[in-house]
Amino acid sequence: MQCVVEPPLTRIMAGEALSRMVPPAGDHVSTHNERRRLMAPDIAARKGGEPIVALTSYHAHTASIADAHCDFLLVGDSLGMVMHGYETTVPVPLDLMIMHAKAVVRGSKKALVVVDMPFGTYEESPPVAFRNAARVMKETDCGAVKLEGGRRMADTIRYLVDRGIPVMGHIGLTPQSIHVLGGFKTQGRSIDQWHAIEEDARLVSEAGAFAIVLEAMTAPLAERITGAIAIPTIGIGASPGCDGQILVMEDMLGLSPRVPKFVKEFGAIGKAIDRAIGLYAAEVRSRTFPSQEHTYAVKGGDSAASPANVVAMATDTNDAALAASRATKKPRTPRT
Ligand code: KIV
Repeated sequence: MQCVVEPPLTRIMAGEALSRMVPPAGDHVSTHNERRRLMAPDIAARKGGEPIVALTSYHAHTASIADAHCDFLLVGDSLGMVMHGYETTVPVPLDLMIMHAKAVVRGSKKALVVVDMPFGTYEESPPVAFRNAARVMKETDCGAVKLEGGRRMADTIRYLVDRGIPVMGHIGLTPQSIHVLGGFKTQGRSIDQWHAIEEDARLVSEAGAFAIVLEAMTAPLAERITGAIAIPTIGIGASPGCDGQILVMEDMLGLSPRVPKFVKEFGAIGKAIDRAIGLYAAEVRSRTFPSQEHTYAVKGGDSAASPANVVAMATDTNDAALAASRATKKPRTPRT
């Protein structure tokens, strides 16, 4: 059940910030894309409408699959833990985010791509945040950045949005602050904490963010925030009452070894990979793979043409050296 609190001033202010942000595509810019990508204002316009679907994505192949189903793809700094084996997101460097973001942009066509600003690249001051966020936008061609923090980031969000960088906020459990929070802890368990978190959401919204992630917080708190602010809330471990939902793709696919309570595994990809690799290993060991269907025949269909025979045949034509090198050359692996 959503608790609807209507502060019209908040909505007007956020609306103004959004209209400052990006001109609607096609108004006065020529475009050669058949179908333009979603942009931050498209997501903002979904407040209170059809739920916004989002997933994290870190590489081109999964981005191209998720693109067909998602409104935005987040190149989350969770990639440090999921793909690179860090224990937290704190060590993730900006260059790594940029590398993965480029792949996700190349792999997708339709979804807005949002890139996480990693720890240490935006907290110091608005100009530092701008320099790093502008680098992310220019080098990756993504459509927005995300940064963690409530009121403490409001000035920075306003500074970025005023200079053309759409920002998604992120409050509740903010994993980059794990060492201050003392662990990956659910926020707002006690009603005493609610006011501060609601204020964080309001200030991020009023600063001009186009949407805000609410991570690991109690459902009634997430519902109050959703009803109170002008921008879409994107829940992860929050509430079905949020304006949209996001999960880490590997978690929902059943690929992550351990997942938080709020994750539903919609697939069992980890088990499928384990089974497939086990079968492969067994077939290699028993020499049943590769079978004839996965090897190359000699042109002309002469299956007796072993490398030695080919050399012998070529000697007759005084071209043994060339034939030997051709016959021993490894076949090219076809691209999948
Ligand atoms: O880094 C990430 O994947 C995120 C999501 C959990 C929202 O920030």
